[in-house]
Amino acid sequence: MSASFKTLDELDLKGKRVLLRADLNVPVADGQVTDATRIERLVPTIREIVKHDGKAILLSHFGRPKGKVNPDFSLEQVCPAIADLTGHPVGFVATDWTDVSAARAAIEQAPAGAVLVLENTRFHPGEEANDIELARRMASLGDCYVNDAFSAAHRAHASTEALAHLLPAAAGLAMAAELEALEAGLGKPKKPVIAIVGGAKVSSKIDLLENLVTKVDGLVIGGGMANTFLHAQGHGVGKSLCEKDLADTARRIMEKAEKSSCAIILPIDAVVAWHFKADTPTRLYGVDAIDPEGMILDIGPSSLERIKAAIDDAHTVVWNGPLGAFEMTPFDAGTVALAQYVAKRTHDGHLVSVAGGGDTVAALAHAGVKDSFTYVSTAGGAFLEWMEGKPLPGVEALKK
Ligand code: 3PG
Ligand code: MG
Repeated sequence: MSASFKTLDELDLKGKRVLLRADLNVPVADGQVTDATRIERLVPTIREIVKHDGKAILLSHFGRPKGKVNPDFSLEQVCPAIADLTGHPVGFVATDWTDVSAARAAIEQAPAGAVLVLENTRFHPGEEANDIELARRMASLGDCYVNDAFSAAHRAHASTEALAHLLPAAAGLAMAAELEALEAGLGKPKKPVIAIVGGAKVSSKIDLLENLVTKVDGLVIGGGMANTFLHAQGHGVGKSLCEKDLADTARRIMEKAEKSSCAIILPIDAVVAWHFKADTPTRLYGVDAIDPEGMILDIGPSSLERIKAAIDDAHTVVWNGPLGAFEMTPFDAGTVALAQYVAKRTHDGHLVSVAGGGDTVAALAHAGVKDSFTYVSTAGGAFLEWMEGKPLPGVEALKK
């Protein structure tokens, strides 16, 4: 896939004004960035631009200010973290994106190799409307365009889509690495491929499940969503989270899987509790005998062994969503044990492992294996849409 779009080394960066679409939509509390992973991934591209005496001019959204200037959503607060991680002074340029003449002057005056952050692109309604006039104003500030924001690529916005058509455009180093990893995960994976999908609800992942069953050899379903499938098979799930109205959908997905020769792997045993809180008493049940008063909050050890056996036969694993209520002990046990097993198989050279999605990254970090998978995406919505098989506008726009 990497051959289908320009990469950074194909752009002439020397002395150029490089508009770098970043995803600076990082968590901030009390003015401090609390998770800088997205910024860390951006550093190599910024360094490359600076090394070539280009000016790195960062464009990004931050939060959802809904097209209005709002100081609470100013990107100025993220600049110190970028300076820290790049070891480079970072200038901030305010603009309302209606008049960009001051921004243009600031960029002209900045020395070669400068790093500048322009104000939140979502301060203008044209950003989310993919407005061509706004994109032209953005384009007037640069000589070329680099997109390193895979996690915003599911949005067809002015800075992710329209702008890419107006200047020589390329994927940044993080974007290129991400697309390569995703290609190895589902595009042209080494088979057999196992997908692990967890999380609370089937309703938010119907498209994803429907797409996966046609692509993978085995689909492990865990988390609250597994209860809906167990219910659809006729098992009692007690007081567990369960979308009973989606039983038909679950059955349809299971039929589609069978036609596509995709094995659906559901829990066979479960950790049950009577209160939804940490360190409450639990008991193990087979899924055909769940206590009617209890709640399934994690997969049990026999389920874990079964999933591990499937992984032993696989060459590729794609993972989205925890298998239990992993934010509370002891219901993190299944997710942690499986994450560590996938990490080990990856480390031993048996497996390509790709994971993504907000909760998933938090779960892998909790299991201490965030850096032990082949690739962990920091994307939320974009990763899900990729798993759904949908084209991502920000990626499509980069294609040659
Ligand atoms: C994200 O954090 O998922 C991306 O930055 C996209 O943000 P959005 O969901 O507000 O478009
Ligand atoms: Mg999002």
